[in-house]
Amino acid sequence: MSKDNIYSEQKNVVDFVFDENVANVFSDMIRRSVPGYESIVTMLGVFAEQYVQQGSNVYDLGCSLGASTLSMRSRLQNIPCHMVAVDNSEAMVEKCRVNVNLASGPEVDVLCDDIRKVDINNASLAVLNFTLQFLPIADREILLKNIADNMMPGGALVLSEKIAFENEAEARLNEELHLSFKKANGYSELEIAQKRSAIENVLIPETLNTHLDRLKQAGFGQAQVWFQCFNFVSIIAVK
Ligand SMILES: C[S@@+](CC[C@H](N)C(=O)[O-])C[C@H]1O[C@@H](n2cnc3c(N)ncnc32)[C@H](O)[C@@H]1O
Repeated sequence: MSKDNIYSEQKNVVDFVFDENVANVFSDMIRRSVPGYESIVTMLGVFAEQYVQQGSNVYDLGCSLGASTLSMRSRLQNIPCHMVAVDNSEAMVEKCRVNVNLASGPEVDVLCDDIRKVDINNASLAVLNFTLQFLPIADREILLKNIADNMMPGGALVLSEKIAFENEAEARLNEELHLSFKKANGYSELEIAQKRSAIENVLIPETLNTHLDRLKQAGFGQAQVWFQCFNFVSIIAVK
């Protein structure tokens, strides 16, 4: 796994993009930046076993290198289904295809496309693992509604996000803990500061209540947090 040192030198910081430089170090970057990422990815395999129905489609929306797809696929060896992994970064998709080809399991279509344009149908499980936060807020409900409308009864969406807090003290506490997590994982003050200014206009977090209300509005009967570490949560929403 290549080490993320993209922001280790002082530079003119521009908005964060998922380009080849990021794709090359993404596995290291996300593990050292998102508390609980590995636990969430592992648990997606358990969600797959629980929710994927025979003959249905499984969607990994914003798949990056395919970690979530591969975790789900490893638990779907005996369930005939079709998997679709989508990302609009060519660099990510290229590497995801290589990773998918190295493993076995149900067929996976890896598409280089915008998740807002992908045809979703007959879905039993969809995953947005730290991806919705990169869409303009106005587009989020439309996407969730599209997923809910095209999901089989009893199907589920796993939505993982960095969240904001209404209460200032709560926000500060969680931000400080996240900062300590990154420092403990070897990021310097300079790296943390430069990454923060690169991502602040790109990743727009919302409160947990905003997410839960929107999921219900979109057509999911039940939505609840199943994982939280500091300001990072994962929600299971069932149709
Ligand atoms: C934080 S990463 C997701 C990590 C991944 N789901 C995992 O579990 O490892 C966000 C990904 O979403 C992709 N993305 C952002 N906006 C997108 C869009 N509108 N359509 C497709 N992919 C998008 C980015 O290219 C990036 O690879």
